[in-house]
Amino acid sequence: MLDKRNPQLNKNGELIHLLSPEGLSRDILTHILDTASNFVSVNDREVKKLPLLRGKSVFNLFFENSTRTRTTFDIAAKRLSADVFTLDIGRSSTAKGETLLDTIDNLSAMAADIFVVRHSESGAPYLIAKHVAPHVHVVNAGDGRHAHPTQGLLDAYTIRHYKKDFTNLRVAIVGDVLHSRVARSDIHALLALGCPEVRVVGPRTLVPADLAQMGVRVFHNLEEGIRDCDVIIMLRLQNERMSGALLPSSQEYFKSFGLTPERLQLAKPDAIVMHPGPINRGVEIASSVADGPQSVILSQVTFGIAVRMAVMSIVAGNEA
Ligand code: CP
Repeated sequence: MLDKRNPQLNKNGELIHLLSPEGLSRDILTHILDTASNFVSVNDREVKKLPLLRGKSVFNLFFENSTRTRTTFDIAAKRLSADVFTLDIGRSSTAKGETLLDTIDNLSAMAADIFVVRHSESGAPYLIAKHVAPHVHVVNAGDGRHAHPTQGLLDAYTIRHYKKDFTNLRVAIVGDVLHSRVARSDIHALLALGCPEVRVVGPRTLVPADLAQMGVRVFHNLEEGIRDCDVIIMLRLQNERMSGALLPSSQEYFKSFGLTPERLQLAKPDAIVMHPGPINRGVEIASSVADGPQSVILSQVTFGIAVRMAVMSIVAGNEA
């Protein structure tokens, strides 16, 4: 039975779907990160398998393109011994006009246990979570501009890995915040985990007006925004979600908001640089920074496997 106030939780307060970090307690978020820690070493084993989802069927439904999220969910489910089915949406009956919930009903009739869903419509995973039978679990792999909870969690995991705890950190999230589900999920996760200072940095046209109410500091100047930060999370310019001319050009954007080696020196000397990917080299980040010694961008990808293993095993109630 769902908790009507927060449909991710059951009546006992247990996580049964992962839809957004918003509304999840520090205890639940920490439990996911701690569970992921137990799974990281599975990557280094000769036999990279645990039996926690043996006999379960995981359906990956990606209505939007993805490289990292889709592949790491696939790997994570296989490492947990689930049977994994990745629907080719372009060749599915969605292209003939079948509705989202009809698709879900038909896959449920094939005994689906977990749906991993990426969709361009904000709220699509909520709709599915409210529709499916109680034994079926939904994990949001990114919905519109709304949330990308496993990215928020893997970002938090990466920060904890390099910085040990959240309580003294100054984190800057830089770029196209307006269109970024990653930014929203990072903000919710980091504030709930006790991060005392989260900054958002970007041009006025790409920073929503309501952000200050979430408890973050807003900057429209990159040099000021990243000064003395411990963590810099760069965001991709999401041209596919921009309807009007919000920016003069990519070159102009890089001049004002691109992370260069010179600008990175304004952050703390041991600051880490993150990016959810895919990166636009020379638009939001210089290649020498993306590939440089302070970049942990590929560690984020690797930790994503363990975090997604943790999320699927927790929502399914089959923990390590
Ligand atoms: N970070 C992220 O969501 O990347 P993909 O779009 O490749 O999954």
